[in-house]
Amino acid sequence: MKLADLYLYLQSDIQKIEKELERSVQADHPVLRDASVNLLKAGGKRIRPVFVLLAAQFGDYDIHRIKHIAVPLELIHMASLVHDDVIDDSKLRRGRETIKSKYDNRVAMYTGDYIFAKAVEQTAYFDDPDIHFVISHAIMEMCIGEIEQIRDQYSWNQNLRMYLRRIKRKTALLIAVSCQLGAMAAGASKHEQRLLYDFGYNVGMAFQITDDILDFIGTEEELGKPAGGDLLQGNVTIPALYAMHEKPDIFTQIHETFADDVPDHDQLGQLLAAVNESGGIPFAKSLSDRYLNRAYHALEKLPESEARMSLTNIARYIGKRNH
Ligand code: IPE
Ligand code: IPE
Ligand code: MG
Ligand code: MG
Ligand code: MG
Repeated sequence: MKLADLYLYLQSDIQKIEKELERSVQADHPVLRDASVNLLKAGGKRIRPVFVLLAAQFGDYDIHRIKHIAVPLELIHMASLVHDDVIDDSKLRRGRETIKSKYDNRVAMYTGDYIFAKAVEQTAYFDDPDIHFVISHAIMEMCIGEIEQIRDQYSWNQNLRMYLRRIKRKTALLIAVSCQLGAMAAGASKHEQRLLYDFGYNVGMAFQITDDILDFIGTEEELGKPAGGDLLQGNVTIPALYAMHEKPDIFTQIHETFADDVPDHDQLGQLLAAVNESGGIPFAKSLSDRYLNRAYHALEKLPESEARMSLTNIARYIGKRNH
């Protein structure tokens, strides 16, 4: 089952969003335009705008209004990816060369900023200051999450709480507000906005945990980038965190490998194998499932509808996704 099959009835609206996205990345400057168009055309799941549209179904759904929130959410996500690849020193994204790699970090910095500004431009459509506060707050938290990750890089002695706080900020909140804002812009009740936010938050946590699992077990073909990048960059995620806590040998192995120099290909392979054998992956999966269960609980309190069914199925898909 493909993700897009889970909300087929929204297909024509998703296509409208896609067209709007294409329009909005058309920049006056050739470098900004090529960089942004290339990232957009490389694909991506468009999960945030899909959540906006589905959440809006709980209020007065009007695509001509909702698109002004769905498009910015994808743009904010894209901008954050451009910046993320700078700090993670990533060469590949969505199977293509990253902007930082094709051009350089300086170009990536301004391309990201440009895409952020495009998002802000789109949201100017709304008079409601609450919408702007929610968006700004999500972007600010995302920055804090990424900065915390830089601060915690290569510190192997972390606890689960630090990890969860980071992924909440860098990923879960943007997904939570995608759901919240869809409901807000469509005039759904405060109670429904809250439930959709809760759903998005929990799905978002599971989403990043799954992304972090895939970085250990995915193939380059599935991921559109080589596996092991997180560990190589000293980004301590849940599988490694568990392995180091439960198996002191692995802690020592990781510590010593990184103490010398950046691990080479074989050393990285050995570390990935050690983490894979530690039980860190099933532990991470069970944590992701706990968040998914909370997401289902939030949905159960919403009125039954086709949109609710789609949200349930997307949550299920996230638990099983392999890219
Ligand atoms: C990647 O997000 C970054 C994370 C928050 C894990 P997605 O997995 O939604 O990326 P695309 O848009 O589908 O490429
Ligand atoms: C998510 O983290 C990045 C942002 C929320 C900006 P990752 O660094 O794990 O994302 P990928 O794996 O590069 O897509
Ligand atoms: Mg990152
Ligand atoms: Mg990254
Ligand atoms: Mg990742």
